[in-house]
Amino acid sequence: MSKRIALVTGGTGGIGSCICRQLAADGFTVVANYIAPEEEKAQAWLASERAAGRDMHIAMGDVSNYESCVAMIAKVKADVGPVSVLVNNAGITKDGMFKKMPLENWMDVLNINLNSVFNVTRQVIDDMLAAGWGRVINMSSINGQKGQFGQANYSAAKAGMHGFTKAVAQETAAKGITVNTISPGYIGTEMVMAIKQEVRDQIVSGIPVGRLGKPEEIAKLVSYLASDDAAFITGANIAINGGQHMC
Ligand code: CAA
Repeated sequence: MSKRIALVTGGTGGIGSCICRQLAADGFTVVANYIAPEEEKAQAWLASERAAGRDMHIAMGDVSNYESCVAMIAKVKADVGPVSVLVNNAGITKDGMFKKMPLENWMDVLNINLNSVFNVTRQVIDDMLAAGWGRVINMSSINGQKGQFGQANYSAAKAGMHGFTKAVAQETAAKGITVNTISPGYIGTEMVMAIKQEVRDQIVSGIPVGRLGKPEEIAKLVSYLASDDAAFITGANIAINGGQHMC
């Protein structure tokens, strides 16, 4: 059987890079998506991944823009092949209290974190249906589950991702496709390190395991959900948050 192809949006970032490496180690051909302003960084990333012997590609595309996703997936299909595993991982934060939140910060976070899931998944679902096998893994957040002070935009987008998961999981379950949500807690990435130290310290003090999570821990869960062994898990929302929120 030829190698399956996995596409990771935001694949050159903190958690994305770890997911790409794990999926490559699992035997997938991996395509990491990035945005145009990060061309130079993405090329350097690809060179170092390939130097380490990993079967990686990169694909430029703005996940918040539908036409950009149409073009990106057409190119991935022509250059690499049809996508079997999609990890909707790209995301941003624009935190601030709701009473001060400008429309732009709402729209940017909704477009990049939630509308992206439609824009990208819509391009790959037909090939998964035709193949009778597919995995869609949506990277949500603890803050989509519990809400977070200063994140009305992000919490709304991340909660929306799981609604999408549950609906599309039902539509595709009989066709060998699983659709799941992962809800990480606070992981030691640039995004979390950008939170003011005193606020971050307060957050960490509320994590029963007593530390931030590691990107590798998220990647291992992605790996399992992407495997044949996880065929009976669909429409699930799996929390990985050190016990910070239990539901
Ligand atoms: N609950 C209740 N009150 C809170 C609070 C909380 N969690 N956090 C802050 N406050 C209060 C403060 O005590 C302060 O009160 P006073 O005015 O009475 O002093 C008031 O709210 C304003 O707080 P700040 O001084 O922090 O206000 P700010 O405008 O400087 O910053 C903020 C606001 C940017 C939202 C900041 O509080 C913050 O960064 N919060 C953390 C947001 C967060 O968790 N982001 C996660 C990013 S990582 C991520 O999203 C990945 C993932 O999936 C987990």
